[in-house]
Amino acid sequence: MNKDIKRVLLDKEEIAAAVSEVAGKVNECFGEEPVLAIVILKGSMFFAADLLKELKMPVTVDFMKVSSYGKGATSSGMVNLSLDTEIDLTGLNVLIIEDIIDSGNTLSKVRMLLAQRGAKCVKICTLLDKPDRREVEIDADFTGRVIPNEFVVGYGLDFAEKYRNLPYIGVLDEAVYS
Ligand code: IMP
Ligand code: MG
Repeated sequence: MNKDIKRVLLDKEEIAAAVSEVAGKVNECFGEEPVLAIVILKGSMFFAADLLKELKMPVTVDFMKVSSYGKGATSSGMVNLSLDTEIDLTGLNVLIIEDIIDSGNTLSKVRMLLAQRGAKCVKICTLLDKPDRREVEIDADFTGRVIPNEFVVGYGLDFAEKYRNLPYIGVLDEAVYS
């Protein structure tokens, strides 16, 4: 195991189970209706890759890149949009794919932006949720696992752009960022 990881929160098998559960809920919600999946970069890339393979409706995929974190382990509250989707959302079922909801600042901004563009609906799916840290009111429509208030990395999630490639999700040792 990586020396900076205090403990494993979800191993490979546990991640796969959580992803399948989310996929099941999304499939049940949309049925045969087509969906535009908007993947929030970079943290959601592994989750999106695994989730999208389990969706049964016709799916198109696009990306947005949003950051609120800079190099620290707590949210700045400021959300920076550096890549936007170019697809016309009018009348579409939009599914936002996010790695983790923490303060909620990122997703509330993304949802507001997308809702203004005429989508038929905007739903949110997230692999992880840290509800204890919420600063703005926002809930995902589909959630993989609710986790305690600890900083986690791996399976796409980073600290200062590191650890994304770990095949598990682990709690980062506080010594790394304090
Ligand atoms: P929010 O705007 O505070 O909800 O933050 C959401 C974003 O912050 C996520 O998309 C992640 O990129 C990042 N983030 C929040 N918590 C963690 C964590 O525990 N580990 C890694 N990244 C996190
Ligand atoms: Mg991040």
